[in-house]
Amino acid sequence: MSPAIVMGIETSCDETGVGIVQGTELLADAVASSIEEHARFGGVVPEVASRAHLEAMTPTIHRALADARLTLGDVDAIAVTAGPGLMGALLVGVAAAKGYAFSLDVPVFGVNHLAAHVAVDRLEHGPLPQPAVALLVSGGHSSILRVDDITHDVTALGATIDDAAGEAFDKVARLLGLPFPGGPQIDLLAKGGRADAINFPRGLTAAHDLQNHRHDFSFSGLKTSVARWVQSRQREGIEVPIADVAASFQEAVIDVLSRKAVQACRDEGIEHLVVGGGVAANSRLRAELAARCSDHGIMLRVPRPALCTDNGAMVAALGAALADSGKSASELSFTTSSGLPVTQVVVNQMRFGQHGG
Ligand SMILES: Nc1ncnc2c1ncn2[C@@H]1O[C@H](COP(=O)(O)OP(=O)(O)OP(=O)(O)O)[C@@H](O)[C@H]1O
Ligand SMILES: [Mg+2]
Repeated sequence: MSPAIVMGIETSCDETGVGIVQGTELLADAVASSIEEHARFGGVVPEVASRAHLEAMTPTIHRALADARLTLGDVDAIAVTAGPGLMGALLVGVAAAKGYAFSLDVPVFGVNHLAAHVAVDRLEHGPLPQPAVALLVSGGHSSILRVDDITHDVTALGATIDDAAGEAFDKVARLLGLPFPGGPQIDLLAKGGRADAINFPRGLTAAHDLQNHRHDFSFSGLKTSVARWVQSRQREGIEVPIADVAASFQEAVIDVLSRKAVQACRDEGIEHLVVGGGVAANSRLRAELAARCSDHGIMLRVPRPALCTDNGAMVAALGAALADSGKSASELSFTTSSGLPVTQVVVNQMRFGQHGG
């Protein structure tokens, strides 16, 4: 029997994503972003995002189906981000997913957006190795996970105690007068700067921090340190070398992320590292992880940059893993959860024996 065709719907933030996956094969990945509507506010405005999802939902579903040369009748199951994310935005995707699932009489999986950021690598490199360590670095989250099975067994080894890595990129970019979202801007600007120009702090890497926060991150002190450095130059009327600031800031983030991810693999005795989330698109992070993993005999898997930021393919990829491993779907009454913990892969899962659609 061929694997199920799964349609994935993503609306947790500002991207309306619809992906279609069969097994580990990506059949379509349609994304409509409202990022330009938020740019002038310097961050995502929840009400604007919700309205944009509402307008983009049906056209994006049709576009994905057309790209995959399929019709709704071909869809065997639906997966949708149930959390974490912006409540109003999540509700649009979940309402659409439930409507399609009910009318098509197919099962629906309400899934975890963060687990989907990790599962998306199935589309690039095939089924995930088990166990694996996952470095999850996105706009709202930064965690190190132990993934024994992405469909039901995810353990948090550590997380940020303040800002997420992507959030730090966005805040420092704003400070440097760069447009939102700042990560890609800093990545680009840093290529023309010196990474060793300024020695910015590496959060939670001192010996005493490694005892209590071995696999945790902190980027708030770094952000403040960059702000102080820039403001002191501005006060003295000295031109701020923004490429050097960008490169040195980026280096501090990447140094900590890569060092701690490799340390977690070594502590857990795991030889596979999977990286996901928007910051995984960062060119310097990708290069540094490749070098450090190679030094320590760790097999590194990072999906292509377009799959790292939010999209529907990642939700479909996780949905396909769930469907293919026979996991039960969510009850149709399932709810969204803006703070869904990464350890809960599927919400309101039916007990076996109940009808899945
Ligand atoms: N090349 C890059 N370098 C660094 N950061 C990047 C790059 N590309 C994107 N980012 C950052 O990734 C973040 C967006 O990632 P993502 O779409 O996964 O976040 P999110 O969905 O908003 O948050 P979450 O997944 O935690 O809910 C932004 O903070 C953005 O600046
Ligand atoms: Mg995300």
